Amino acid sequence: MERLLLAIESSCDDTSAAVLRGNRVLSNVVATQKLHEAYGGVVPELASRAHQSNIVPTVHTALEQAGVTLDDLEGVAFTQGPGLMGSLLVGTSFAKSLAQARALPVVGINHMEAHILAHFIADTPDQIMPNFPFLCLTVSGGHTQIVRVNSPTRFDVLGETTDDAAGEAFDKIAKIIGLPYPGGPLVDRNAKNGNPKAFAFPKSNVDGYGYSFSGLKTAVLYFLQKQVKANPNFIAENMEDLCASVQHTIVETLMDKLVLAAEELGITDVALAGGVSANSGLRQTLRDVGEAKGWRTFIPPFQYCTDNAAMIGMAGQFRLDAGQVAPLNAAPKARWTLESGRG
Ligand code: KG4
Ligand code: ZN
Repeated sequence: MERLLLAIESSCDDTSAAVLRGNRVLSNVVATQKLHEAYGGVVPELASRAHQSNIVPTVHTALEQAGVTLDDLEGVAFTQGPGLMGSLLVGTSFAKSLAQARALPVVGINHMEAHILAHFIADTPDQIMPNFPFLCLTVSGGHTQIVRVNSPTRFDVLGETTDDAAGEAFDKIAKIIGLPYPGGPLVDRNAKNGNPKAFAFPKSNVDGYGYSFSGLKTAVLYFLQKQVKANPNFIAENMEDLCASVQHTIVETLMDKLVLAAEELGITDVALAGGVSANSGLRQTLRDVGEAKGWRTFIPPFQYCTDNAAMIGMAGQFRLDAGQVAPLNAAPKARWTLESGRG
């Protein structure tokens, strides 16, 4: 029988717990912290307090939905970083204490590694998975990276953003347009009925496989300041076209470097991961480009795109299979790069 694992995710503003049997998800419960909406962004101190009140009930629900008890568990995985220190501390303390009390192996997981490994969750027996090495465009609220995934535990980051992450760009531009936090999904929804070519915004031009999104944010800000001066209703009147044009620019920028990397490295298994992989424009564009280029493309189901504990569990199974466990003094890491190498 494959290992029954409890996984905990608490790196940012969602408290999540999942139970996995091998690579199958038996439950995946996410408690979203709505309270940050009022502040236009995540307030770290409030996030850690909310994790503290959510964590026990969330784990309880995850066990119940999976139809198992603490006695059945054979391991615990938790997000050790990167993320907000106060938030990570809650999950780390909870997971280590539970593991200590129950004499279970416990493993600390890199959140970005887990986003990538979500592709190996097998909710259906005929699930098609990428072959190693594959390329993964990892796009979240804090990261934008092109990663060569060498094995389930070894990664080469080929390029990343020098300033804002793609999700951050969506959220900051959404805020300029007047949409509430987190704005990414709302830009996506509005973009569906808009013209992506209505407004031409500049695409950044960074060397190699790097990205930059702060210039786009500034360009949108100046453009709107000018337009609103001439017509105070400009944003409301052009909401859908604005969202479609911004989304189009971000998606094109992301895809340009991904295509370059795939062609230069000769890799044809290409995947998306992270919260922004929920974006319908990006999903469709990857499918279209993949079809034209003869790639096999991999896009996680929605529930495994944004933050969730199921992906932490998947990464945990790989790390425990490799014999890795967290030392008793394991502490969270606010910054933590992916483990490189070819092993
Ligand atoms: O991976 P994630 O849930 O959390 C982090 O690890 O950061 O990513 C959150 C980011 C936010 O910036 C959010 O606006 C963005 O993902 N996001 C989207 C969409 N859904 C989530 N951005 C664009 N379109 C979406 N549909
Ligand atoms: Zn994430």
